[in-house]
Amino acid sequence: LKSIAVLTSGGDSPGMNAATRAVVRTAAFEGVKVWGIYNGYQGMIDDEIHELTSRSVSDVIQRGGTFLGTARSDEFRTEAGRKKALENLKSHGIEGLVIIGGDGSLTGGSLLSKLGGMPIVGLPGTIDNDVWGTDYTIGADTAVNTILDAINKLRDTASSHRRIIVIEVMGRKSGWLAMMSGIAGGAEYILVPEAKFDLDQICRELKESYTDGRRYSIIVVAEGAGNGIEIGKQIGAKTGIDTRVSVLGHIQRGGSPSVEDRLKASILGERAALAVISGVSNVVFGFNSGKVVSIDLFDSVNNTKTLDPELVRLARVLA
Ligand code: F6P
Repeated sequence: LKSIAVLTSGGDSPGMNAATRAVVRTAAFEGVKVWGIYNGYQGMIDDEIHELTSRSVSDVIQRGGTFLGTARSDEFRTEAGRKKALENLKSHGIEGLVIIGGDGSLTGGSLLSKLGGMPIVGLPGTIDNDVWGTDYTIGADTAVNTILDAINKLRDTASSHRRIIVIEVMGRKSGWLAMMSGIAGGAEYILVPEAKFDLDQICRELKESYTDGRRYSIIVVAEGAGNGIEIGKQIGAKTGIDTRVSVLGHIQRGGSPSVEDRLKASILGERAALAVISGVSNVVFGFNSGKVVSIDLFDSVNNTKTLDPELVRLARVLA
């Protein structure tokens, strides 16, 4: 192909810029025209499409978020919206598309692909690490480190006061962020949607351990497992132990990307650009066991990634 476009969609994630940069620079290296679609699928519908050069992506690799902007578009959920978007792409002479985003964005890509018209390649860009077929998603490493930093800080204050601190973390329906940060942060309990838990039992154990001399407890709650504020209230009431809740929120999405996110996003960006330029379609590039893999786009969006039960077991052993 001689002209491709790139967009970021859904929740931003640290490393999206590194991936976009790699797509743009690979295309430029190959002598292929490259366009940036601003503000996700909504920008595709509204024709916010501009040509990018190597220079356009200077000074972005270290920045969190996405300089292209992103959005969650209701209009793109309709076939009329998708048709309009495709027409806009064609009006610029765009022949192929790289989509960087999470599960919902890749689903959007699969629906666009069903209209035919151009090759589509996806890259998994989300802090949630919930894209099927890849054990890595762009931004998850930075986010988990941001959460870990928060857990370390909350430990200081929790131990000073002999408090229980409940930390609610993002992840949508996935417990990956909670599990990884909880294990690395030495949390006593990690509540995830993938594993059943008994709050009464947890409260009994907490009471016993405080009677036994425990100074404080850290409990990480994945947003998909329940509302942190509600769970904190219940724990406080049932144990009688001073309990505080911290909902980390969007702070988890920001920040300069880690080495892993910059490197892997760069590797995946190059692969995606080369693939789409050569006419490959309906694949998502990711990593498995440290190696780049290509996953069928439809398989990826039609399957649900599960949390490794070994991690759930390990968390219980180490608590
Ligand atoms: O998918 C990324 C994510 O940050 C989820 O972890 C979270 O549930 C959601 O996006 C929040 O979405 P929004 O930024 O639209 O509030």
